[in-house]
Amino acid sequence: MSNSRRAVVILAAGQGSRMKSATPKVLHEVLGYPMIGHVLRSATALSPERIVVITGHGRAIVDAWVDQWAAANEGVNVSCVEQVNPRGTGHAVQSALGALKGMDEVVVLYGDVPLLQTETLAALVAARGDQSLSLLAGQLDDPTGYGRVLLDANGHIAAIVEQADTTPEQRRVRLINAGMMVVDGAFLGDALGRIDDNNAQGELYLTDLLAIAAADGNPGAVYVAPDADELQGVNTRAQAALATDFLRKKVLAELMADGVAIEQPAQTWIEVGVQVGRDSTIRGGVELRGTTRIGERVLVERGCVLNGTVVGDDVHLKPYSVATDSVIGDETAVGPFAHLRPGTDLGKKVKVGNFVETKKATLHEGAKASHLSYLGDCDIGAGSNIGAGTITCNYDGVNKHRTVLAAGVFIGSDSQLVAPVNLGEGAYVGAGTTVTTDVPAGALAVSRAPQRNIEGWVAHKKARQAEEKARRKGSN
Ligand code: UD1
Ligand code: CA
Repeated sequence: MSNSRRAVVILAAGQGSRMKSATPKVLHEVLGYPMIGHVLRSATALSPERIVVITGHGRAIVDAWVDQWAAANEGVNVSCVEQVNPRGTGHAVQSALGALKGMDEVVVLYGDVPLLQTETLAALVAARGDQSLSLLAGQLDDPTGYGRVLLDANGHIAAIVEQADTTPEQRRVRLINAGMMVVDGAFLGDALGRIDDNNAQGELYLTDLLAIAAADGNPGAVYVAPDADELQGVNTRAQAALATDFLRKKVLAELMADGVAIEQPAQTWIEVGVQVGRDSTIRGGVELRGTTRIGERVLVERGCVLNGTVVGDDVHLKPYSVATDSVIGDETAVGPFAHLRPGTDLGKKVKVGNFVETKKATLHEGAKASHLSYLGDCDIGAGSNIGAGTITCNYDGVNKHRTVLAAGVFIGSDSQLVAPVNLGEGAYVGAGTTVTTDVPAGALAVSRAPQRNIEGWVAHKKARQAEEKARRKGSN
């Protein structure tokens, strides 16, 4: 079957009215990532020749999201096809028939069933063999809302009955249609021409393919997923929360199995695709999002939120530190309460302390900014020391400018570095200085007014105040 041509169709045109949202359903997130993205990820694992996403409701934004995903996943052939005036899941696949010409096998996925695992899909494909189709089913304790799979005396599929069309007896059937099927390409085109809308919802049901296959004497295979949890469909916000929790626990379990200590799993949010190295410890209240990657023996303390951030080995992230699109080198310490904004690049053994904000800032090996600073659009040389309260004044109201410090620069506390400005190797800046011009290597910059001490000033002032008070009393 190696040279057979396979396509995946993802149904994503439905309105999703039960979400009560202006956002199309498939763009609602499960564990911080749109449902359609999870489904595209599963589809890609099947290495299909092409993926066709059927869109309709909220089409412009769904198509834009898919295009952006495609741009980030080179080599995956994915395109969107419009379903005009959506009339059910069968009608949705009919809309894609043009794009599916010549395919030997078509895998149908639902954009609102985001938890499906690659192994399950592979088993579904294998279950079909050379039959007309295979259907993914599951045993649910509460099958309400799902289509029920009816088997004949021989255990073959006789039909699928939608909830709205069930008899009370059929409603008790716990074997449900998960929605996914693998269909022979030629059979698909033929059978879709034979379905009708003669049902409670007046829709064209894809699930009628099962009854057609059975009537043709080739009823197809049913594959019952061992873990019905991954078949969960998301139609409401409550179901989105349930699906998120299921996936969140799964991600945490996999990381723990790989040697990561997760101290309080119930309070930890780690998204699919985040990497964490062995012997790292994640405390409670931590969120690791997007493409975040963490090395080995890292301690991430309570409340840290990392997004798209790459962390080396032996790093210590102290409580409540936030980092976005940043890089943190080996043996570096950050926080507590540090804010690393996009473009922050901390080298090895750097220290960024409490209430320090960085943005487009490179701090080379051993540089320290221990307290209360804003470091934006700057390059801080190795071993430099940034005193408490130092501010890079990078914005003149129109443009942003850079501050560049060579190695070993010492900035005294409460200084302002008015960019653009360069400080040479080993330069010193006295506390409270406003640096407005370049400082040569080895020079000291100071801009404060000289200090004056007035001897006996306090006693003199107190005497004057006492006199004044006595005068006021006398005049009353
Ligand atoms: C569907 C199945 C049901 C199954 C359940 C599993 C049918 C008729 N019913 O019911 O047997 O148990 O999924 O979750 O297939 N869509 C379109 N165009 C349309 C209608 C729907 O693209 O015209 C898309 C939706 O965006 C969604 C998917 O198809 O991603 C399923 O549609 P939905 O309306 O949610 O079907 P269910 O009622 O959940
Ligand atoms: Ca659904």
